[in-house]
Amino acid sequence: MDETSDRWIAGDAYEHFMGRWSRRIAKEFIGWLNPPASWDWLEVGCGTGALTQAICANAHPSAVVACDPSLEFVAFARRSLSHPAVAFLVAGADELPRQEGGFDAVVSGLVLNFIPTPSEAIRSMRNRLRPGGALAAYVWDYAEGMQFLRIFWDVAAELDSRAAELDEGQRFPLCHRDALVELLECEGLESVDARALEIDTPFSDFDSYWAPFLGGTGPAPSYVGSLSTTAREELKLRLRQRLTQDAGAPIHLTARAWAVRGIAGVDRQVRAV
Ligand SMILES: C[S@@+](CC[C@H](N)C(=O)[O-])C[C@H]1O[C@@H](n2cnc3c(N)ncnc32)[C@H](O)[C@@H]1O
Repeated sequence: MDETSDRWIAGDAYEHFMGRWSRRIAKEFIGWLNPPASWDWLEVGCGTGALTQAICANAHPSAVVACDPSLEFVAFARRSLSHPAVAFLVAGADELPRQEGGFDAVVSGLVLNFIPTPSEAIRSMRNRLRPGGALAAYVWDYAEGMQFLRIFWDVAAELDSRAAELDEGQRFPLCHRDALVELLECEGLESVDARALEIDTPFSDFDSYWAPFLGGTGPAPSYVGSLSTTAREELKLRLRQRLTQDAGAPIHLTARAWAVRGIAGVDRQVRAV
């Protein structure tokens, strides 16, 4: 297995590792956007449907077109979320659908850093908006506030110099407030603002922290999957020592994301299909 790739194939493993937290942060994001009811939404990189579900549960949408290039993730999302307003589509940021008059909102959760040219993705997203529509996105704060991954990579790098190169905190300079604001402003969005969103990520004991890293989906589990049994056991032991004196005790951590939003200028023309 190539441990440097970001693999998005196993929906159940993703849910176990990250989806349960991405569902919590998605709800915070919708609360921050505070959208009016009856919007038409386009979602980029919907994955297993965390943000899609938050839109349906909290934003009273008229319609949601939720796209992801992973066939497996879209199949998982279709199975787990059945809502009359939602249509799932296998499509990457470079092949987003259009809608006559434009969407009211184009959003993306925990995706932008995985796209090789985020500026092109933002341009495509902006071009799908109606004049005055909202573009908004969020990414984990891998460098600091995403604690369970921050601790994982810090400990992994103490044991293995390769780990530092795989650490999302190093790989994704976009995952900072100022970088996100600049990205949207450079692509012509107006009234751009950003803020931190934070959730609790409680683990009932050390095993419930460690087991999701064995699922193989996502950068850190892919890295764990590339290790020998001895190296994996050493990493597990060091993590346990770092996190808790008592392997049976709960571990309380938090996860922070940076969220950004901007408005498409009202003088824009939107091209229909
Ligand atoms: C960390 S997951 C986030 C999934 C979901 N939005 C969530 O909040 O749980 C990253 C997602 O980005 C998708 N992705 C990767 N490259 C992409 C691209 N070029 N365009 C759109 N989505 C992409 C992956 O397939 C994966 O579903």
